[in-house]
Amino acid sequence: MGDRLAGKTALVTGAAQGIGAAIISLFKSEGATVWGVDRTPGATDYTLDLANIEDIPGFVASLPSTPDILVNCAGIVLTRPFFEVEAAGFERTFRINVTASFLLMQEISKFLVKSGRQGSIINMASNSGLMPKLEQLDYGASKAAVISMSRSAALSLGPHGIRVNAIAPGVIDTPMTQGIAKMRSELRGVPPEETLRPVVEGLPLRRMGTADEVAQLALFLASDDSSFVTGQTYLVDGGQWMH
Ligand SMILES: NC(=O)c1ccc[n+]([C@@H]2O[C@H](COP(=O)([O-])OP(=O)(O)OC[C@H]3O[C@@H](n4cnc5c(N)ncnc54)[C@H](O)[C@@H]3O)[C@@H](O)[C@H]2O)c1
Repeated sequence: MGDRLAGKTALVTGAAQGIGAAIISLFKSEGATVWGVDRTPGATDYTLDLANIEDIPGFVASLPSTPDILVNCAGIVLTRPFFEVEAAGFERTFRINVTASFLLMQEISKFLVKSGRQGSIINMASNSGLMPKLEQLDYGASKAAVISMSRSAALSLGPHGIRVNAIAPGVIDTPMTQGIAKMRSELRGVPPEETLRPVVEGLPLRRMGTADEVAQLALFLASDDSSFVTGQTYLVDGGQWMH
């Protein structure tokens, strides 16, 4: 428990599980009021399918107040070979991972600028946006777009005191990673743990990361501890990117 986010409000997407859920519990433990958004009802404050991008402006306008912190954490990954990447999946990946995040940034910043308030926006990218991973063409491209978009937004919003940074995790132990292992296991006809083992053994730290280890970086970027940091992409990947 601490007070690094005391008095702040945060909106976190992808709230129902994995990294988003870890960010929410850490932010709350540091004194923030946090609103979670997910398409999965139950473990979240607001149920919204971010693929329905036309609903985003109305959703932001309906919030009790404008959050000081936005964490765009919701994301999807489709794992399939190059020749099976189809336009519909490609577009859906970009719609959720990129367009929805952009619209949330734009809508929330509009309100912050209008009221002269500062803010911190954190976009969940991936080290897949910096290095190619087999069978994840559209996912990697969408995360490269998230990194680029974060830098562009940082340029435009910096004069208004709104900081924008990206986090690029590597292999983190969440339902998404287990889902990727399952998809690869079906493609290769080996058990899911056998698809993860060689990846983890190749990491300098020799283990997967935890959702809380990513949340700790999000806390730094959300809090005033990073008050002079904007337009950056932080890797939290156990050293995988060095390979
Ligand atoms: N797990 C990893 O190894 C890893 C690595 C790099 C980057 N990331 C990124 O971190 C973020 C979170 O990953 P995670 O591992 O916690 O994933 P996860 O799949 O475990 O959780 C993602 C959450 O986002 C929600 N979501 C997905 N699509 C949505 C939509 N259309 N509308 C609303 N909510 C939606 C899901 O319901 C789920 O609760 C993602 O952006 C992911 O790309 C994860």
